[in-house]
Parts: sequence; structure tokens; C-alpha cells
Amino acid sequence: MTTPFRSKDEDQTRRDKLTWREGDMPYSEEFGDFYYSKADGRAESRHVFLAGNGLPGRFIPASVFTIGELGFGTGLNFLESWEAWEATAPEGAELVFHSFELNLLEPDVMARALSAWPDLADRTGKLVNAWPERPEGDVELAFKEGAKTLRLHVHHGLAREVMPDLRFKADAWYLDGFAPSRNPEMWSAELLAIMADKTVPGGTFATYSAAGWVRRNLQAAGFDVEKRPGHAGKRDMSVGRLIG
Ligand SMILES: C[S@@+](CC[C@H](N)C(=O)[O-])C[C@H]1O[C@@H](n2cnc3c(N)ncnc32)[C@H](O)[C@@H]1O
Repeated sequence: MTTPFRSKDEDQTRRDKLTWREGDMPYSEEFGDFYYSKADGRAESRHVFLAGNGLPGRFIPASVFTIGELGFGTGLNFLESWEAWEATAPEGAELVFHSFELNLLEPDVMARALSAWPDLADRTGKLVNAWPERPEGDVELAFKEGAKTLRLHVHHGLAREVMPDLRFKADAWYLDGFAPSRNPEMWSAELLAIMADKTVPGGTFATYSAAGWVRRNLQAAGFDVEKRPGHAGKRDMSVGRLIG
């Protein structure tokens, strides 16, 4: 599926289109969708993105593990991954998290959204305190936990434009770019082929979407795709592994 090209200037004007619904639920006016499940964003993160990629089990033997994410948003998936990795990864391990984000949020906005999960407060504080007040470009942060190191790279811009020049390969991908019907660009054949190129052989992805055209784009990019039961009453989600 092709989508019209959007310039960086246009993208800049897209900021601040987040509104709050039902209390502290972040909603994108631009994309007409919530940032995460209204049922429980954290439970969705665990079920879809972590379990869908065989995590945290795959952290246990890995000295370095790399996660890629389409759509950093509030950082909820990042914090949930950090929590699970910290609890399971061996001493000396490193977690590298590459995420792609068009509209970087400000730290007070992230803090308000993430305040829904008080037991993540410690890590939320570390993230928002290190996050730039007015984020303008890529955000690069590192967190030390004893002998473990966590590196966060949030690449600012349209994922399709910024990803090709980067040098990394992910072991696991979280595909979290709003509903495909609301944001087809994040699920285009072109972007998913670039994403596959940034995946180790046998690397995996997980997403809440089970849309037929998304699954076909993932297959065309080289993934074996399978359906799994979705989160909070959603019948299906998709997971897959890069062939070869
Ligand atoms: C569902 S939200 C992500 C939620 C996030 N993972 C979290 O934990 O809060 C989707 C995100 O994708 C971003 N986005 C949408 N289209 C994009 C694109 N073409 N390139 C990069 N980011 C994009 C949006 O700005 C939004 O923050």
C-alpha cells in the first residue's frame, strides 16, 4: 500500500495533537486512536509485545539483546521491557532498544500517561528525568543497573525515512504504530521490508494487528506469520519469525 510523502516541516506541525480522554488515557487526534489499549496498556504490552516475542524467556541466555519498536509514544513498552529484562537477564547483560517516533512527546506528558502504573514509578522517573524538556532530534540515553546496561535510541522522524541508514539488527520487534486502518504508512510493504532488513535471521515480531494486508506485507518481507489469541477479548494478533 502506498502513502503520500510528508515533509519534515509538515511533521513538525503535527506535534501537540495528543489529548486526554477518560482521565489519563492519551489519544492521538491526528491518527484517531489511543496510544495503548483502553483495557490495560501494560497488560497489552506484556501479552502482545513481550510474550508475542517469547520475552522475557529470551533475555535469560542473551548477553546482548536488541529490541526494535515502531512507535515509542509514551515509552510504556520500553519501561515494561526494562522491568522484565532487569528481573531476568544475567549480570553483565546489555539491552539495546531502538525505537522510531514521529512526534516525540514532552516528559510531563509521558509522566502523566505513565502515572497510571505506580509500580513503574521508579523507572518512569528515571526515563522522564533523563528525557529532554523539548525533544527536537534523536534521543540517546543509557541507564546502568548494577552490572547491566540499557541503551535507548529513539530515532526521530518518519520510520520509513530514518531507518534505512541505521546500522543495527533487532532480535525482536514491537510493531505498535496505531491501528493499520488509521496509519497505513506504519504497516506499508516498504517499511516492513526495511524492518526485515534490520532483523537478525530467526528474529521475531509481534503486533496486535491481524489485518490480512498487514500479514501479507510481513510475509512478503520474509517472515513466517502466525495468528495468536489477542489481548482483552480481541480474537487475533500476529507474531512471526524471519525465515533464514
Ligand atoms: C500506538 S502509539 C505507540 C505507543 C507506544 N509504543 C507506547 O508504549 O506508548 C504509535 C506511535 O507511532 C508514532 N508514529 C506514527 N506514525 C509514524 C511514522 N510514520 N514514523 C514514526 N513514528 C510514527 C506516533 O506518533 C505514536 O507515538
